[in-house]
Amino acid sequence: MGRRRWMIVEVIAFLLVLSCGRDLNIKEKYRNKHKDHLPVYNHTLATILVEYASAVYISDLTELFTWSCSRCDGLTKGFEITDLIVDIQHCLQGFVGVAKDLNAIVIAFRGTQEHSIQNWVEDLYWKQLDLNYPGMPDAMVHHGFYSAYHNTTVRPAVLSAIKRSKDNYGELDIMVTGHSMGGAMAAFCGIDLVVNHEANNVQVITFGQPRIGNAIFASYYSELVPNAIRVTNDHDIVPHLPPYFFHFPQKTYHHFPREVWLYNIGLGSLIYKVEKICDSSGEDPNCSRSVLGDSISDHLVYLGAEMMGETWRSCGIVMNSRINEYGTTDVQGNIVFSKHLTSPVLKLNTEVGVGSNQA
Ligand SMILES: *[C@@H]1O[C@H](CO)[C@@H](O)[C@H](O)[C@H]1NC(C)=O
Ligand SMILES: *[C@@H]1O[C@H](CO)[C@@H](O)[C@H](O)[C@H]1NC(C)=O
Ligand SMILES: *[C@@H]1O[C@H](CO)[C@@H](O)[C@H](O)[C@H]1NC(C)=O
Repeated sequence: MGRRRWMIVEVIAFLLVLSCGRDLNIKEKYRNKHKDHLPVYNHTLATILVEYASAVYISDLTELFTWSCSRCDGLTKGFEITDLIVDIQHCLQGFVGVAKDLNAIVIAFRGTQEHSIQNWVEDLYWKQLDLNYPGMPDAMVHHGFYSAYHNTTVRPAVLSAIKRSKDNYGELDIMVTGHSMGGAMAAFCGIDLVVNHEANNVQVITFGQPRIGNAIFASYYSELVPNAIRVTNDHDIVPHLPPYFFHFPQKTYHHFPREVWLYNIGLGSLIYKVEKICDSSGEDPNCSRSVLGDSISDHLVYLGAEMMGETWRSCGIVMNSRINEYGTTDVQGNIVFSKHLTSPVLKLNTEVGVGSNQA
């Protein structure tokens, strides 16, 4: 016990002095570069990324892969999607592409697509901190959320897509987003890119994300991914889960900063929308924690964008056989659709078949 307590003190001291970083494979360069600018919430960027986080729920893979879906318009118009990842085995979906207007690679992950959001939310109460985050002493996370990104088709497909985009466009910023469980995956993806792939300029913006790890993990997170924003909406229940136990700060789940809490103030008949930029603790008692998290409907719309599938359905997919040639299917039936960026623009809406694009 004494030894363990000593180790915790040591870790905290390490975090406070921000000294050498010997436990983490981080470049000094990166560390210094990011210390002098505090993460700033950019409302415009959030309104753009929320549309990506909404679009990834679309189940018609042809519409997504040609970026012609109903939610693929508006602020995301012109997005060059390069990879669409469909992990059928674990019911996960994500995409990677290049948004030239943002000068960035955008990566988005879908939230849960179960029959009942209610059941999924109820399960969140019981999630254990049951995995040590590799390379970070005493940082604990939830194994299930971690694995959804790390131990599925998702991670290798994301990494390969980033590499190809960089080969084509050179250095780009990386913006990772997702809603609900997709936000949890986005968070794990963001820190993975920084820690294991030396990515610079990684920005994470999640919407209605559950907690994913303990306080020590949150400290590492804010140090390594300072440009992380968790947008929470009014009484949305999911950011309150798995629970935070005020009296056991070291044993409980703990959000990483920085929360931005959206809520309404009513003054007479007028309703004002407020965006509150919360403190750097990750658990600002005056943000979403100041209200009861008891709403599922507040979970399903963020900044005006619908954050769910068109229907609640099982993990079936809809696709047009004409995108088959872009797909690679593994033995479990998981599919990754991949485009070469040098290929001519796809015109799948026309009757004319597409030529070979294996350039
Ligand atoms: C906010 O993001 C938008 C879109 O990427 C960008 O055009 C704008 O310059 C950003 N604003 C600030 C203050 O960084
Ligand atoms: C990854 O998944 C495989 C099976 O899908 C499982 O056997 C293995 O234990 C998992 N690894 C981790 C670290 O969760
Ligand atoms: C929360 O807000 C109240 C006033 O509304 C203020 O007195 C208090 O200091 C704030 N707490 C924190 C931790 O910011």
